[in-house]
Amino acid sequence: MRIRRSLIDLDDLTAEEIAQVFEQTAAFEETAPGRRLAGRTCVNLFFEESTRTFTSFNMAELRLGADVVNLAPRNLSFTSKGETLGDTAITLGAMGVSVLVVRHPEAGFPQRLALGFDGHVINAGDGVHAHPTQALLDIYTLIEEFGDLKGRAVAIVGDVLHSRVAHSAIRGLSRLGTTVVLVGPEGFLPSTYAGEGVRVERDFDGVLPNVDAVILLRIQRERFVAMPISDEEYVAGYRLDRRRLGLLRKEAIVMHPGPYNRGMELDDSVLDFAGWRYARQVHHGVAVRMAVLDLLVNARSL
Ligand code: CP
Repeated sequence: MRIRRSLIDLDDLTAEEIAQVFEQTAAFEETAPGRRLAGRTCVNLFFEESTRTFTSFNMAELRLGADVVNLAPRNLSFTSKGETLGDTAITLGAMGVSVLVVRHPEAGFPQRLALGFDGHVINAGDGVHAHPTQALLDIYTLIEEFGDLKGRAVAIVGDVLHSRVAHSAIRGLSRLGTTVVLVGPEGFLPSTYAGEGVRVERDFDGVLPNVDAVILLRIQRERFVAMPISDEEYVAGYRLDRRRLGLLRKEAIVMHPGPYNRGMELDDSVLDFAGWRYARQVHHGVAVRMAVLDLLVNARSL
């Protein structure tokens, strides 16, 4: 049996394995999981700010009975004393650390760390590349709403280019047979994103009546120098507001990975919309991360 040690992106999971994670997620939300990671140490290495991912990984690890170390990047020898990343990985592995949960602004950093680490690396977001556990909790939320996602259509709206959340969601959803409709201005959404099962659209109003769900994205201002269009143009073309909510199908839902910026990608009417599922997404984040930790560490089939 192949033992898959790390989760760098959703490409690391087959559709069957994703289904296993979701089955375990449901079980953990139903019944307390027990100390399935007792005696294991999880180290959380966050080189970028995080509220949701950091807190929910901590909660997940603690609920599974793991020992948890939150290592501040400024205390790592490789950031100030010339140690290589590879030697850091060897060091943490030699201490018996089982899991490294890593967020870093550089795409590929978790993968590089995993090459030298004798344990499991979970990517908690690397630059513009990937954020697999966010995609898993987003897909879990969609399945909770709609069941099988084959044949459904999900719009992902805004700064797709700089969004690791979007990149992982596109991979995951298209593999489950969902039509992904990407919506945004050229500067945030080059036409090259179009592919099998993935459409690129510029007209948000035209897309809204034809999708089951809308995933809004924050503009990732920390990842580029100049806005490709003005804030006013962005708001006019792509902000979800009361009028645009009225164009949605009755049963459609709206999601956002957070943090959301009121006034830019959404206005306050979205937060009162019956189909707003942000809190469900955040809620599922803890159990999804417990399921990923359990399946990696206890290595049933991942
Ligand atoms: N969605 C997400 O990754 O949020 P945080 O940056 O707060 O972890």
